[in-house]
Amino acid sequence: MKTWKIAMIGFGTVGQGLAEILLAKEQSLKDEEGFACSVVAVSDLRLGSVLAPSGIDLKEALRMVKEGKSLDGYPGGKGGLDAAATIRETNADVLVEIGYTDIRTGEPATSHVRQALARGMHVVTTNKGPVALFLPDLLDLARSKGVRFLFEGTVMSGTPVLSFAKKNLAGCRVLSFSGILNGTTNYMLTEMEKGMGYDEILKKAQELGYAEAVPDADVKGWDALGKVVILSNYVLGARVKPSDIPCEGITEITPEKMKKAASEGKRYKLIGRASIDGGRVQASVAPATLPLSDPLAGVSGPTNAVTFETDLLGSVTVVGPGAGRAATGFAVLADLIDIHRSCGK
Ligand code: HSE
Repeated sequence: MKTWKIAMIGFGTVGQGLAEILLAKEQSLKDEEGFACSVVAVSDLRLGSVLAPSGIDLKEALRMVKEGKSLDGYPGGKGGLDAAATIRETNADVLVEIGYTDIRTGEPATSHVRQALARGMHVVTTNKGPVALFLPDLLDLARSKGVRFLFEGTVMSGTPVLSFAKKNLAGCRVLSFSGILNGTTNYMLTEMEKGMGYDEILKKAQELGYAEAVPDADVKGWDALGKVVILSNYVLGARVKPSDIPCEGITEITPEKMKKAASEGKRYKLIGRASIDGGRVQASVAPATLPLSDPLAGVSGPTNAVTFETDLLGSVTVVGPGAGRAATGFAVLADLIDIHRSCGK
């Protein structure tokens, strides 16, 4: 039985969600996919780090974090290593980069991804920074090292929108897309419509594990912007950067504006879109008031949806969870299974 040794950079909401999934699915992964996972390193800026080449007891690591103890003190492990030292010293064959996202610089995640790929490790990430800013380079580096670089969870968490567009729509040309690409703000708009206050809902979105570590990334539209860039480059074949695209979040949407829209039979949604025509890309992230008859107006809570316009199939919509602990943890699991199916046998 193949055992994949995994190093995790980041052990926040997504990392802990992934650890819970690996524990819950341990037997079914062995029975149905023929592999096991052993997490051999974890490094988190806030929660400490542990290197344990023969495997970390994830139940114990989760318990320590819940009790507020640093992972540096994990019994029998080596603690006190930053991410770079963890990647340098680990015996892992897959790096899972689920650390802090910076959509403007892509750092420090891009350095982690490059370092791991250069060492010949497969890399799975949900971090939008490296993928939005440096995808062609990172894919080239992975190819040159004979390893995989996978990032399904960067767009719509575990809802398989990237693999759908790339694998299932292969042969179609995708001409444009438009959708709700941020779970936090869609959840907030849904609850604001019911009368809850902005600050209270944002706090709830953080507690539920939807929001980014710095929630400005959600409410100012930067997270949706990262996803628009990834979809534009990966699915439409564009070469755009975040700074090329106008971006406005939900911070200017007031209860009064929402009431006015409702009186006109409309609803506010934060919409990310892009189209490509003769190599020219037009893209944006901005709030829009949609008529209630628009299918996107009915997408509520942390659910996301994206509609692709294609040459052969017309319009195709993917709807599913856009954020959350288990949903994003699942995205990483799906990529791990993909690596096993392609490289593990
Ligand atoms: N903060 C993001 C969202 C997480 O709310 O959509 C998933 O990318």
